[in-house]
Amino acid sequence: MTNLDQIVARALADLAAAADPAALENAKAGYLGKSGELTALLKSLGALAPEERKSAGAAINAAKGRLEAALDARRAELADARLSARLAGEALDVTLPARGRGRGGIHPVIRTWQRIEAIFGSIGFDVADGPEIETDWYNFTALNNPENHPARSMQDTFYIEDKDATGLPLLLRTHTSPMQVRYARQHKPPIKVIAPGRTYRVDSDATHSPMFHQVEGLWIAEDISFADLKGVYVDFLRRFFETEDLQVRFRPSFFPFTEPSAEIDMQFGDGPLKGRWLEISGSGQVHPTVVRNFGLDPERYIGFAFGSGLERLTMLRYGIDDLRLFFDGDLRFLKQFS
Ligand code: PHE
Repeated sequence: MTNLDQIVARALADLAAAADPAALENAKAGYLGKSGELTALLKSLGALAPEERKSAGAAINAAKGRLEAALDARRAELADARLSARLAGEALDVTLPARGRGRGGIHPVIRTWQRIEAIFGSIGFDVADGPEIETDWYNFTALNNPENHPARSMQDTFYIEDKDATGLPLLLRTHTSPMQVRYARQHKPPIKVIAPGRTYRVDSDATHSPMFHQVEGLWIAEDISFADLKGVYVDFLRRFFETEDLQVRFRPSFFPFTEPSAEIDMQFGDGPLKGRWLEISGSGQVHPTVVRNFGLDPERYIGFAFGSGLERLTMLRYGIDDLRLFFDGDLRFLKQFS
C-alpha cells in the first residue's frame, strides 16, 4: 500500500498547487479521471485474491474520499480567492481626499427679485407670474398702445414667427405691463399685485441687455391715488436700499397706459452716488382705457401701476457700473454675492 500512500501524497500536493480552477480540474483528472492513477488502481482490484481485494478496495475508496474532500476544499479556496481579488480590485479608497463640491450662489439680480417679493409681500401684494411670449394685444393694444400708435416704436421688439389667433405675430414681451391686464382680468378688485420677470428688447450696450428683468406693480380699487403710489414706492425704496436717507421725486413723463405718468427718480443722501438724481421706475395712474380692458368700470375703479428694472435696482444697491457683468458668468464677480 505504500504505492497508494504515495499516490495520495502526490495528488494532495498537486491539488494544493493548482493555482486556478482549470489547473485544479487537470490535476483531478490525473488521479480521479477515467485514466487517472486512482481509477487505474480500482480497475486492477479484479486481479487480486478475494481477501486482498476487500482490504485493498476499502483503502483505495478511503483514499478516493480524501482526494474528493481535498478537491472540494481547494475549489472553495480558489473561488474565495477570486472573489477577494475582485473585491480588492473594485474597492473604493475612502481615505482619498474629496474633490470638493463647488457651492452655488444666488445671482445678484435674483437676489433683488427675492427681496422685492419679500418687501411687497409684507404689505399685502400678491406675486404673479406670466408668459414671456406674449400676444400683440396684451403687450400693446390692451395697454392703450394701438397699432400704428407712435408709442409702439419706442420699443424695438423681438417678434417670433408663430402667430396668435388673430393672425398677428407673437413677440417676446417688451415689458411686464401685459401682466397688469392678464392679472386684472382674472381677479376681482381690490387688485394688489407685483409681477416680476424677464423682458426683452432689441438693445445691447453697457446699460442695456436684450434680456432684462422688470417688476410690474399694480394696485386698483375704488380709492387708490397717486399719494398711495408715492407712499408705497418710497417705503419700498427705503426698505430695498436699507436707508431712510434717500429722496424721491416724480417727474412728469408719458406712457400710453397711464395718465398722468411719471418717472420716479431717487437720490441717496450718502455714499458715492450722493446728490445725483437716478431714474428708477416708470409709473402712473392707470389709464381709463386700460381699466376698461381689465374688464372694470373706470368710473368706479382707479389706481396706479409702476414698472421698475431689476438690473438697475441691483446696480444701485451694490455699486455695479456695467450691466454686462450680470450676464458674463464671471465667477470672480458672481462669488461676491454668494
Ligand atoms: N412698462 C413701462 C416700461 O417698460 C414702465 C411702466 C410700467 C410705466 C407701469 C408706467 C406704469 O418702460
